[in-house]
Amino acid sequence: MVKIGVLVSGGGTNLQAILEAQSRGEIPGGQVSLVIASKPGVYALERAANFGVEGIVVPRKEYPDTKAYDEALIRELKSRGITLVVLAGFMTVLGPDFIQAFPDRILNVHPSLIPAFCGEGYYGLRVHKEALARGVKVTGATVHLVNEVCDGGPILLQKAVEVLPGDTPEVLQRRVMEQAEWKLLPQAIAMICEQERKEQE
Ligand code: GAR
Repeated sequence: MVKIGVLVSGGGTNLQAILEAQSRGEIPGGQVSLVIASKPGVYALERAANFGVEGIVVPRKEYPDTKAYDEALIRELKSRGITLVVLAGFMTVLGPDFIQAFPDRILNVHPSLIPAFCGEGYYGLRVHKEALARGVKVTGATVHLVNEVCDGGPILLQKAVEVLPGDTPEVLQRRVMEQAEWKLLPQAIAMICEQERKEQE
């Protein structure tokens, strides 16, 4: 069984989607065993508690730089035997130490069709604002492996979502989550867990 750690910074609707998929038996090879929040008081921690999953806060503010923060995160994850890390609305930049600690085993969900509207500065609602400002008619979500390039790792899954007349960033964000993110992320996790299982056979 692959032990999964989910990193969050906010509301945690993607975390909720993962935990619900797990409850329905859709992630047979994996188990979410830790949720780490980058700041205290985020709703994602309540969602973890509701599913009986350990949730902790490793506050970004308390660490002087990325390197120190990476080390703290690695310590928490490795000490629990976690081998797959999922960034589910995690708004903090991770450094090379973290990426090298989990090679090809860090997943990120991004709310656009990469390579559109991605890279530094493109996160959360900002992505949808830019998509609307550019006037695209189709957007979507991407799940990719994380490497040293921001939003530049190998793409695992993508799903397109229509932009509709009158969309606000909030309305579009919700549609992209419902139609794409909440489906793709659990699916990608299940895929990686299945791959691990095959490799260990
Ligand atoms: C999601 O839309 C996710 O794709 C995005 O933040 C939101 C988090 O929502 N992530 C990024 O923009 C990362 N670059 P959630 O906390 O409700 O899952």
